[in-house]
Amino acid sequence: MSKKRVLIALPLAADLLTEIERSCEVVLAGGKLEVPGKEDFLAALPGVRGVLTTMRSSYDAGLFARFPELKVVSNFAVGYDNVDVEAATAAGVLVCNTPGVLDKAVSDLTLGLIIALSRNMLKNDRFVRSGAWMKGGAPLAQDISGKTLGLIGMGRIGATVAAAAIALGMRVIYYKPTRDQAIEARLGIAYRARDEVFAEADFVSVHTRLDATSRNSIGAREFSLMKPTAYFINTSRGGVVVEDELIAALRGDTIAGAGLDVMVTEPLPPESPLCSMDNVILQPHAGSATVQTRRAMIELAARNLIAAMRGERPQAMVNPEVWSPDLVR
Ligand code: GLV
Repeated sequence: MSKKRVLIALPLAADLLTEIERSCEVVLAGGKLEVPGKEDFLAALPGVRGVLTTMRSSYDAGLFARFPELKVVSNFAVGYDNVDVEAATAAGVLVCNTPGVLDKAVSDLTLGLIIALSRNMLKNDRFVRSGAWMKGGAPLAQDISGKTLGLIGMGRIGATVAAAAIALGMRVIYYKPTRDQAIEARLGIAYRARDEVFAEADFVSVHTRLDATSRNSIGAREFSLMKPTAYFINTSRGGVVVEDELIAALRGDTIAGAGLDVMVTEPLPPESPLCSMDNVILQPHAGSATVQTRRAMIELAARNLIAAMRGERPQAMVNPEVWSPDLVR
């Protein structure tokens, strides 16, 4: 079997590069093992059959038409909003991702944001460092136990968050377009209409993918349904939220605060109003950013690519209907 040419468009540990090189001919954009700029990326693509990529490279119908030999996009992420999957499927391009291995890490960060917000952890840190403590105790915080967590979305990550929240003594309600009674029975959570989740929860946390349906789906209307004491948490994608309307809700005390791991523009410029808000905790899109989880993700992404190049069925495919042993001849 001849080795198929693949582009590695991200930094990669030496052992995984060696593993890929055993089955494939590796090319690097601009000769570097890093996330390429657009020019180097496009210059490297002719003749490439598969790409190991981050979300920072985009794939659409125009790109698939321009590089018809490209047959596999293996994303180093569970999300795949950088790929037009419909266009990929129409062009016979297989899209792979990394589901499952990051559920726990994203859930941990989500719960971390909930705990940090309800226990005033950032405000209390500043309270100690500024010497304010020398003049008296800090304002009391809020218990998490007994509070209601409202989840928008109930996939693998949502279910992991629900289980962790229940272990902390929270009640969990959720909305997803198709009700899942099996998960309700398994986890002990309750289904609600979408508006009811916003109205009833003390914390609303978003766990949906970004697509045409979810883009800009949470804005002023949803924030106005929330209690003024409630917090909004987003560890999914910034584009799900109308960010200006979130900022207005935070400024106007429509809601109590927010914990955000994702924003519309990433990296978030320090000039963003979010960066100067006292009732917001920000993270740099770090839900899966632990040594162990990122290693598990890149192993899965690399093995998805190798399998497809060898005519074997990859473990995680977004559009499996495209796969066949002859996909990359
Ligand atoms: C991270 O955001 C991912 O989609 O894996």
